[in-house]
Amino acid sequence: MPIDISPLHPVLAGEVSGIDTTQKLSRDQVAAIEDGMDRYAVLVFRDQRLTDDQQLAFSRCFGDLEETRGTGISKPGEQRLHPAFADVSNLDKDNRLLERDNRRRLYSLGNMLWHSDSSFKAVPAKYSILSGRVVTSEGGNTEFADMRAAYAALDAATKAEIDDLICEHSLIYSRTALGFTDLTPEERATMRPVRQSLVRTHPVTDGKSLYLASHIGAIIGWPVPEALAFIRDLTEHATQRQFVYAHQWRPFDLVMWDNRVTMHRVRRYNNAVPRDMRRTTVAGTATTATQANLAAE
Ligand SMILES: [Fe+2]
Repeated sequence: MPIDISPLHPVLAGEVSGIDTTQKLSRDQVAAIEDGMDRYAVLVFRDQRLTDDQQLAFSRCFGDLEETRGTGISKPGEQRLHPAFADVSNLDKDNRLLERDNRRRLYSLGNMLWHSDSSFKAVPAKYSILSGRVVTSEGGNTEFADMRAAYAALDAATKAEIDDLICEHSLIYSRTALGFTDLTPEERATMRPVRQSLVRTHPVTDGKSLYLASHIGAIIGWPVPEALAFIRDLTEHATQRQFVYAHQWRPFDLVMWDNRVTMHRVRRYNNAVPRDMRRTTVAGTATTATQANLAAE
């Protein structure tokens, strides 16, 4: 069956049919999905009843996977899933709901702020692949914003001003924005800021896009309040409704997005019902800016 992609949003998101992600993909199928990603940036595959091993195998078709070990606050032995998974659920390792004041839950609320996955790593992520194993029927949408369209809609003066700007990204900044400051010295040490270009060029399409995230805490060479006010302005611009696709989850949806050209956020949902979402992340292959402290990376 040939792969077919029908638009869910005119330019940002498409629904794929003709692919069973539980099966080994052919080289042509992988190429067709990559083409679809370069065109849309968000692809939705319905009714994909994946095991963890199948999700890993599917994800590895697109590159090496990131490991979550050594990022964030989870400790060895606390994790519910294989280290190549980001556990985006509200469940502990025994599949029980996290209490309201659970530290991991409060930390994960940072996912409600617009961000791009792993922009806090010197080599940031390429694709994220999120499997909805148990989804919530009310709330919990994932929204995506198109950073290509957002860049294109800027006026010429702003484009000229931002083209060579470099930002600092760290998990500390996004957590602090929500008042989560309860981080140990060891955790802070793993969250040292990295540098990212504010404007990226896509390696395949050559198109420019804004590279924004709530992980941004500074623009190199700018006073911090001026930088953060400007980043807030750009974020408001970039997340206007015409640039956004809101994904309402159905059970066993598999959603794949290109972090190089999108931001996303999860919307509020009821923590009294289980939500089991499992993310694999395809690693990027290049930095976007020269790091100030490469020796320490
Ligand atoms: Fe995310």
